Amino acid sequence: VIKMTDLDLKGKRVLIRSDLNVPVKDGKVTSDARITASMATINHALKAGARVMVTSHLGRPEEGVYSEENSLKPVADTIANKLGKPVRLIRDWIDGGFDVAEGELVLLENCRFNKGEKKSNDELSKKYAALCDVFVMDAFGTAHRAEASTHGVAKFAPVAAAGILLTEELEALSKALLNPARPMVAIVGGSKVSTKLTVLESLSDKCEQLVVGGGIANTFLKAVGKNVGKSLCEDDLVPTAQALMSKMQARGASIPVAVDVVVGKKFDANEPAVLKDAGDVADDDMIFDIGPKSAQELADIIMNAGTVVWNGPVGVFEFDQFGEGTKTIAKAIAETKAFTLAGGGDTIAAIQKYDIYDKVSYISTAGGAFLEFLEGKTLPAVAILEERAKQ
Ligand code: 3PG
Repeated sequence: VIKMTDLDLKGKRVLIRSDLNVPVKDGKVTSDARITASMATINHALKAGARVMVTSHLGRPEEGVYSEENSLKPVADTIANKLGKPVRLIRDWIDGGFDVAEGELVLLENCRFNKGEKKSNDELSKKYAALCDVFVMDAFGTAHRAEASTHGVAKFAPVAAAGILLTEELEALSKALLNPARPMVAIVGGSKVSTKLTVLESLSDKCEQLVVGGGIANTFLKAVGKNVGKSLCEDDLVPTAQALMSKMQARGASIPVAVDVVVGKKFDANEPAVLKDAGDVADDDMIFDIGPKSAQELADIIMNAGTVVWNGPVGVFEFDQFGEGTKTIAKAIAETKAFTLAGGGDTIAAIQKYDIYDKVSYISTAGGAFLEFLEGKTLPAVAILEERAKQ
């Protein structure tokens, strides 16, 4: 792909698609991680003397209707704070009619207010393209969506380039997944096997150890004949879990299964935690975490790894008494010499809770796009940049 950093942007009209889809409460941004991560690209364009236009989606508003709830106003305030100067937010922008000076930045309202955005309507995409000399795709978090602002515009813009964040994300993910230092360990947590099945299938061909956690692990415990009581478990996927385990075993790889677990009787913040051997789970127990022996085994695996990819906690870590497993894993990830890559909302929450943010080699800003990359899927917004670079 063409990188924005290889282009002369002086005086050019540069349209940047960032992923500034951040949580907002009472008109204020509550976590600005995605905005911070997008600033390298924005600052680069400003310093280069470009006429900078930035757009993003925020939430999933109805197209063709303005809603204050989905306005980028709080994002404009946050960027203004970071730049130390006001940021103009332009509401009706698809037909142009606004000026941007060299080295100035304007924020273009939520692109999902525009009719045709989601379906990547060509007419709308051409309008976006007409606004700029260079289109910069930097929204890695939305790169799995073929929308007008992520994909369509890249077809028609005079030049379509990759931003700094997008480039960094692709390099980190490729390093971990396409060319990993061995042994490679993947940790996939989450409540259901069904929602992560493609991820599990794809990773089971790539890594030496596939650690499953949370509700997903219960289906695997059942697959090795253990009682999981009233725990979240997908009985119909037990044969799938067995097949994944034998497939990995056949090539000397494995899916480790917990030897001890922490159970409760109901899902409640005050529910006492009870430690049991994995073989002793009662019919009315619910498994909420792995036990210390299992956690230590996983920590050892992580310490000996060359690469660790982490998506999803291994227990109900939002309740402290069921968070020890995830905490042990987080600590091992912080300490290992392996290249460590983490992504997904719950994972980042765990990273924050156990205070290892600066100790992970790379933390992706993406949720869905991260998972699709793990699944081995092509991200359409990246594919179009590759196509354009060949022309
Ligand atoms: C995300 O938060 O995962 C991205 O911003 C994409 O959002 P979407 O799922 O609404 O397309």
